[in-house]
Amino acid sequence: MKSLYGVIGYPIEHSKSPMMHNAWFRNENFEGYYHPFKIEKNQLGNAIRGMKALQMKGWNVTIPYKEAIIPFLDEVDAAAVAIGAVNTVVYKNGKWVGTNTDGDGFVASLSLKRTKEQLKTSSILLIGAGGAAKGIYYALVNAGVNNIHIANRTVERASSLISKIAADGNFKGISLDSATEQLTQYDIIINTTSVGMYPEIDSVPIEVTNIKAGTLAVDIIYNPLETAFLKAAKERGAETLNGVGMFVYQGALAFEHWTGIRPDIEKAMTMIELNQGGTTC
Ligand code: ATR
Repeated sequence: MKSLYGVIGYPIEHSKSPMMHNAWFRNENFEGYYHPFKIEKNQLGNAIRGMKALQMKGWNVTIPYKEAIIPFLDEVDAAAVAIGAVNTVVYKNGKWVGTNTDGDGFVASLSLKRTKEQLKTSSILLIGAGGAAKGIYYALVNAGVNNIHIANRTVERASSLISKIAADGNFKGISLDSATEQLTQYDIIINTTSVGMYPEIDSVPIEVTNIKAGTLAVDIIYNPLETAFLKAAKERGAETLNGVGMFVYQGALAFEHWTGIRPDIEKAMTMIELNQGGTTC
């Protein structure tokens, strides 16, 4: 009998996770099935109780439930506590445990362009200080990066994020204007905001006039595959990486939690790029 997995969110119709996970189940001959569940806000508790009663072995959590789900779980691990959000639930020793693979998935996706050693010695600019930035910042610090500036429209939010996750090194919250002026100093520039996502495809989170050639510009957005930010950066000689990598790697880490199997990353990347059009989980 197949074990049931899935993703909960609202809306959920456009999620590419079912396609990706079901393809992995088939490829790995694993007896699993992954279904999208659209849950109304006032039904979250009932839904989780139902998922537990049905003995689901795990599921993903996407907008708007990444924080709201926490009180309904039996445990949350250190990463999810630090980030304050859960994107993956795993059934372990009779308990439903919340974890978060978004940040680690993002860092893993950087391996498509940089080695771990290169990453550690890079000077990084994160744009945005919301939920997505928090997971990415936490994972970068854990990966040993000690040179990170966070630029945000609301600078206090960037400074507050820095102060919540303590580490030794050069960590600073700055304004978008300062970041724009000193853009040459960064080796990797990461957009964690939704600025540039379909349908606002002409918007950019930062002007890249001062970007240096060879810099890696990264966007967590994958609809469109090439955002206006990535396009402008590429025109100035930067390397680029879109959000497909993060999406696939966060899913792969969840899949590994559930099955113990490392799924095929490359095939999934190609499939998602061909079926481009999603937003998050
Ligand atoms: P998420 O969980 O997706 O990160 P969020 O917590 O709402 O969403 O955070 C959105 C981030 O995008 C924030 O850093 C936000 O800046 P503020 O903290 O100043 O609100 C940033 N953001 C959203 N729209 C923006 C815009 N039009 N220009 C600049 N920054 C924007």
